[in-house]
Formats: sequence, C-alpha cells, structure tokens
Amino acid sequence: MRRFTTMLLTLCCAHAACLSQTQAVDPNAIAPKMQWFADAKLGIFIHWGIYAVQGIGESWSFHNREISYPDYMKQLNGFTAEHYNPEAWAELIGQSGARYAVITSKHHDGVALWNTGMTDLSIPKKSAAKRDVLTPFVNAVRGQKLKVGLYFSLLDWSHTDYPGFLKDSSRYDAKKDTVRWKRFQHFFQGQIDEIITRFNPNLYWFDGDWEHSAAEWQADKVRNMILDRNPAAVINGRLQGFGDYDTPEQNFPVTRPKLRWWELCMTTNDSWGYQGKDTHWKTPYEIITIFADAISMGGNLLLDIGPKADGTIPNEQVHILTELGSWTKKHSEAIFGTVAGLPPGHFYGPSTLSKDSTALYLFLPSQSAGTVVVKGLNNQIQSITVVGSNQPVTHTIVGKISWSHVPGLVYINVPPAAQDTYMTVLKITLDKPLSIYRGRGGFE
Ligand code: GLC
Repeated sequence: MRRFTTMLLTLCCAHAACLSQTQAVDPNAIAPKMQWFADAKLGIFIHWGIYAVQGIGESWSFHNREISYPDYMKQLNGFTAEHYNPEAWAELIGQSGARYAVITSKHHDGVALWNTGMTDLSIPKKSAAKRDVLTPFVNAVRGQKLKVGLYFSLLDWSHTDYPGFLKDSSRYDAKKDTVRWKRFQHFFQGQIDEIITRFNPNLYWFDGDWEHSAAEWQADKVRNMILDRNPAAVINGRLQGFGDYDTPEQNFPVTRPKLRWWELCMTTNDSWGYQGKDTHWKTPYEIITIFADAISMGGNLLLDIGPKADGTIPNEQVHILTELGSWTKKHSEAIFGTVAGLPPGHFYGPSTLSKDSTALYLFLPSQSAGTVVVKGLNNQIQSITVVGSNQPVTHTIVGKISWSHVPGLVYINVPPAAQDTYMTVLKITLDKPLSIYRGRGGFE
C-alpha cells in the first residue's frame, strides 16, 4: 500500500455541487511520471455513447427529465457503429498534433463501451452494434504511438445499487443503507479493475466524483488499485483529492489552477456528445488561440469531439482537427517540449519557453502586422525568427537608459508576409537562460 502525504490544500472542481477537498498527492513525488503529460500539451477527448442516436445531452438529458429514462435507453437500438473506423479516428487524432486521446469508457448513464462482466448494460450486450467498440480504439490509438486515456464515470445513474437517479429522485441514502452502498462499491471497483487489467491506460479520467466523498468512493483504495498495477499511470483530478492534476472544464482560467499540472477540457461546439442541432462551432482560430493561452500558462488542452452513432465524425470536427494539425505541425517546436512562458505584464499575448529557457516563443495575438513589444527582458537577443519559415525579423531596443539596470523595450517588426493563417509565432533566441526584470521602473 502506498502512503500519501496529506496537504491541507482546499480545492474545488467545476461543479457547483463539488465538495471542498483535501489534496492527498505530493506533486514532487509524482513529477517523474507526469513528465509525458506536461510535454503532451494537446489531447483529444471523445464522448461517444447512445446519446448520439437522438443527439441529446449525454446522460444529463434523462437525469434532468428532458427525456424519460426508458426512451433514453431505447437509443441502444439505434447505436449501430456501422461506419466506425477506429484506425481512421486514431489517425485523425494523431494528425491534429495531439499526444493523447481520452474516450468515454462509461458515462453517467452507465452504458459501458467494453464487454464488462459486471453488468449487462454495455454496447456489446445491449446495443445494435453488438460488439466491444472500446478495445479496437485503444489498440488503434496505441498504433499511432499516442497515450491512451479512459474516461470513467464513478457515478452510475442506471445501476440499481447506485443512490442517484433523476435530479429530483434518488433510490436510497448511502449513509443509511451501507450494505447496498457496499454492493455498488464492489460493482464500480470491479469495472475499474477490468479497465486496469484489459486496457492498462496511461491516463484514468474519472468523472462524477461530486456526488460522494473520498471515503465513500474509497478514493485512496481506487488510486492504489491503479498505481499498484501501473505506478506510471496518471489520474485526473476528479477523485475527491486523490488525483494528479486539475481539470477546469469549459471555463478558461485567468490565473493558474491550483495543482502543478492542469488540463482544460473544452468542447468544439457547446456539446460533449454529438448533437446535430448544435451548430455553435468554435472556429479553428479560436481553438488555436485558446490552446496557445493554455500552454502559455503551463496547461494542456483536451479538445472534445462527439462522433455520431454510426461511428462517423462530424465534418466540422474533422475540419477543426485538420486545421489544428497543420498549425501544430508548423509550430511544433514552440509547443511540444516547452514550458509556460512569461508571467503577465511582459507581452500582450501567450508565450512559451524552451526547457533550457534560452528560446522564448511569442504567439502573436492578432493577425495584424506591425510591431509587438516585449518588456523587462534582461537578456541580449541573438536573433528573432518566424517559427515555421525561419524568416528573420528585425527589432529595435527602445528607451534603454545607459545608467539604469532596467532593460529597454524590445520592439519587433512583424512583416505582413510573416503572418500565419491563424496565429503567427516568433522565436527569440537569447544569449543565456531567460532573465526578466519585474520591478517598478526607476531604481527599483
Ligand atoms: C461534466 C459532465 C459530463 C462531461 C464532463 C466532461 O462532468 O458531467 O457530461 O462528460 O463534464 O468534462
């Protein structure tokens, strides 16, 4: 059994109902296993389930009584996966520049995508597809040399031994009927055990922890079950304080999330799963600028797609991933293997730093040509080039006072021809590791 140092760090997840938590994981102890995650920057999230049949909200639609539970479950008959091509999915994901993929092995509706032995409620046993659709995807993702993440909902609104069901009705009180709750613990932990044994994912992406406490989920036991089998496995932060990194959802953080590692999960339109009526697509430009902002603050982006029930990926999402892919390919040195960039106040836009901090990458926040400014740079500049083309760019140092230690302002001239379709990136090669002036001007 592993032991965790308990730190008194109060956390709160994206959900209003989320209880405040105590973070049980020491960041220094997990730093080595987190390295691939820190370097990965981009992941693709996939919400695929029976909700795609009618194009309604994943699980929440019956929970919130927008559709009756029996009608929701009838979607099993329409889930055919007839055009499902896991290799093509994995290829598209790889081409986007993502280094990992996370797929919903089971959402809050309890429908497992794999052939679980713990219940009959699964795609192979109950849907028109009649087969395990998870295993081929996991294999295809590994075939692309990407890391595999499995989303798993701890809460299961379909299971008769789970207390929660509809928003205004529950089956029982877990605190009062501990025998029944123990049966549910046995069930969900049995499914996690299957996931560990059959898929050995690189990343466990839990969800739905907010309905019960760490003690009720036996979160420490769940963490140990995973790490005892694979000490390198990464666990997201939705395990009531027993996860490794923060998972802000949809809402972009303005200041860095509390945990050392973090990942923004975000939809490409406004829905996690496929919803044909939702045409509120984010543009590739918006997604690229959001991504740049996330890596500038030391985070990752987990960008969601929602395939249809027949296994095809909506064209708009293919387009977004393809455009994202050409941009990440062109700017790969500014993205992968870098760390968070300048703190706020030095440059009006996102930035990243090479790991040895001798190269500073500036992500230009608008497509207009002209000058951009960097403040407080103590280093000497060796060169400035456009990432992707190596085109040299000129600059002048403005306002450097000979008797002052305060650095001058770096005005960089960005020629119109240097513009990328989406976001232009400049590389400033420094004479030595980055050194910045954080003072108030004058003699301070
Ligand atoms: C929320 C929702 C869920 C969605 C998830 C993705 O927790 O409950 O529907 O899958 O966010 O982050």
